[in-house]
Amino acid sequence: MPTVTYISFSGDRHSVDADIGKSVMETAVSNGIPGIDADCGGACACATCHVIVEQEWFERLTPPDDAERSMLEFAVDPQPCSRLSCQLVVTEALDGLVVHTPSTQR
Ligand code: FES
Repeated sequence: MPTVTYISFSGDRHSVDADIGKSVMETAVSNGIPGIDADCGGACACATCHVIVEQEWFERLTPPDDAERSMLEFAVDPQPCSRLSCQLVVTEALDGLVVHTPSTQR
């Protein structure tokens, strides 16, 4: 089972087992990870699931589609490695994925 690690802005680390086929957002919510509100439930319509992916992982992800790219413009302080975690689907290849939650999401 793949493991995903979430690191808060203050440095708290939470590593959780993730079900293949679930999103990185769903994995966070079901494990009580703070800082990922996911107000729209994964419809790519709120940007409250914004994460900053560690560089080495960012390059391995499927690039964002137009809808995600547009919604990322509404994220607070987007970074070059920003993604919407509801659009990242867990696969075996993402075992070890590390994402950071922004300072505005606690
Ligand atoms: S949960 Fe709303 S955009 Fe991801």
